[in-house]
Amino acid sequence: MGTQAVNSDISIVGAGVIGAAIAWQAARRGHTVRIYDPLLADGVPQTGASWAAGGMLAPFSEGWPGEDQVLDVGAQSLARWPALAAELLADTGIDVLTGRGTLLVAADSADAAELDTQDRWLRAQGHAFQRLGRGEVRDAQPALAKNLRGGLWVEPELAVDNRALLRALRTAAAEAGAELIPHLVTDLPGQVVLAAGSDSAALRPGLPVRPVKGEILRLRRRPGTPEPPTCTIRALVRGRHVYLVPRPDGVVVGATMCEHGEDRQVTVAGVRDLLADAEAVLPSIAEYELADAMAGLRPMTPDNLPLVGRLSDTTIAATGHGRNGVLMMAITVDTVLAELGGNPLPQMKCLDPGRFSWN
Ligand code: GLY
Repeated sequence: MGTQAVNSDISIVGAGVIGAAIAWQAARRGHTVRIYDPLLADGVPQTGASWAAGGMLAPFSEGWPGEDQVLDVGAQSLARWPALAAELLADTGIDVLTGRGTLLVAADSADAAELDTQDRWLRAQGHAFQRLGRGEVRDAQPALAKNLRGGLWVEPELAVDNRALLRALRTAAAEAGAELIPHLVTDLPGQVVLAAGSDSAALRPGLPVRPVKGEILRLRRRPGTPEPPTCTIRALVRGRHVYLVPRPDGVVVGATMCEHGEDRQVTVAGVRDLLADAEAVLPSIAEYELADAMAGLRPMTPDNLPLVGRLSDTTIAATGHGRNGVLMMAITVDTVLAELGGNPLPQMKCLDPGRFSWN
């Protein structure tokens, strides 16, 4: 992306991946950018959804019939990711990509029937992927359990290390001139971008964003144990979804979905179910170290599409990304920069917060 000399003040509330990526690209274009976040630790927010995330860029395998627009926006954002990751690598030396492709697998016949439904819907939307039989699944990833029913190979999807991404974006934003401020102020200068995730509704009362808790685990490979998979594995295990996202040193296993408001505690049942389902798919993880367990709050909206667009003459929303914050970061950056430049993207009108009557 090119740079363009402008000099307007932009105040970004929230230093998660959405806020930091907007800061990076806006500062590169010559804006004077300040990012405000009271939850910073070591330069990045370590309690928010961006820190908790699995890092799947997976609009197809996370898609579901009826959510055609979420699929479409997610696919457009995925298409932007390789260039964005390459640009981040050039600016920081940090390669955030950790996996290519997603292998969807089913544990029993009912799970396989659900996979058929998803496959049919994806084909109807113009996205046909390769079906794999039982043997082909094992050939693709030999460490997988023997008794899986079959799968779907979703080649274009990617995975990123979300924590490396946060650090890379912070570095890139700072090098481009953005200032990171570890508190909020009442009089924010210039155009304000609200990118505060599940806290957004507290800052803009009535905004239709609610927290949906997700418990997520980080498993680290121990010496002598089998290597982690090279692609994301997304499985249905007797009706429950689990995903395993590769990292250089292990896998991230997620995630529960709980409508428990601001609850950030990790429960015994959450960890038990995630580990049981992950082990049913990839038995070797039993030998890994359980390195981290945390709960993040996804900022969900009523229609599962984010809120990206003008709230007022001075404020732009970039929030409500639900299960898809890391994926939709790329399209969100372009949408916000177009809005700041006075040329909103017509194809992203579906993200306009004005689609809800909340104020
Ligand atoms: N996108 C994965 C999750 O929200 O759990």
